[in-house]
Amino acid sequence: MDLGFGGEISDLYHRFRRGYPPELFRAIAVAFSLRDDDLVVDLGCGTGQLAAPMAQHVRAVLAVDPEPDMLARARTAATEQGITNIGWLVGRDSDLPLLRTVLGDQSVAAVTIGQALHWMDHATLFTAVGPLLRPGGGIVVVSNGIPLWLQDSDWSRALRGWLQNWFGTRPANSCGTDELTRQRYRESLIANGFDVSQVELDYTDELDFDHLIGGIYSALPVDRLPPPPERARFAASLREALDPFQPYLEYVPVRAIFGTKITADPVSVTVQPAAD
Ligand SMILES: C[S@@+](CC[C@H](N)C(=O)[O-])C[C@H]1O[C@@H](n2cnc3c(N)ncnc32)[C@H](O)[C@@H]1O
Repeated sequence: MDLGFGGEISDLYHRFRRGYPPELFRAIAVAFSLRDDDLVVDLGCGTGQLAAPMAQHVRAVLAVDPEPDMLARARTAATEQGITNIGWLVGRDSDLPLLRTVLGDQSVAAVTIGQALHWMDHATLFTAVGPLLRPGGGIVVVSNGIPLWLQDSDWSRALRGWLQNWFGTRPANSCGTDELTRQRYRESLIANGFDVSQVELDYTDELDFDHLIGGIYSALPVDRLPPPPERARFAASLREALDPFQPYLEYVPVRAIFGTKITADPVSVTVQPAAD
């Protein structure tokens, strides 16, 4: 199934999508007591927004994504940064049980999922993750801000209207960033025996027009991307519609849901010698 992340989208994603604040990686390291010899799996790695910085904290990251173009772009970016401890694997959430077989005795300190769980069957995934994890390990589900067209600002409201006009449909997908969806994720983690906590890292940043339009392009399925000859018209019309609402200030709420594997305390049994 083509999810629309191939071709040009992978490059746009790499250039225009936000990475994550360094505090996030420190919080993951603390939550799962990460060690130098640990392995982390980043599921739905895209172009490596989580996988690349995560790799500094552990022995290796296994970065998994069903879209080969995303993996290829991520791999090039990591090589350019001199990162050598990430393995890139074509795969999806439903392949996780297979990973248990591939890894043999090796367990995983953490499974990270950045801005991708809404593409997966989260309940099945949370059940499958448990057997992969080492004691004290866990899963972290991160959402990175709010889609550009759903923000509570005048420029974002103008963008919503403009996109509706251009494409003929109202852009409404929250991509798993809304509170109701996160609540469902938390409940599902608890139902699967995880201890759940949340870290909130918020900041505000100013977008320039290139990043705004690049962010929109990167969020479109590749078959809806305006063809290159149409892009100048697309950009000019959007620029005109949004210009009165400058500066494009973006409030970026980063939310990380941590699910730590609950391990049963070892039961100590004292065996009394049988009396003769
Ligand atoms: C929005 S991108 C997120 C990329 C990156 N993790 C980040 O934090 O920005 C979503 C990624 O999920 C991948 N994806 C889609 N369906 C998936 C699935 N069933 N299992 C794993 N990854 C999937 C897509 O190919 C895409 O690269």
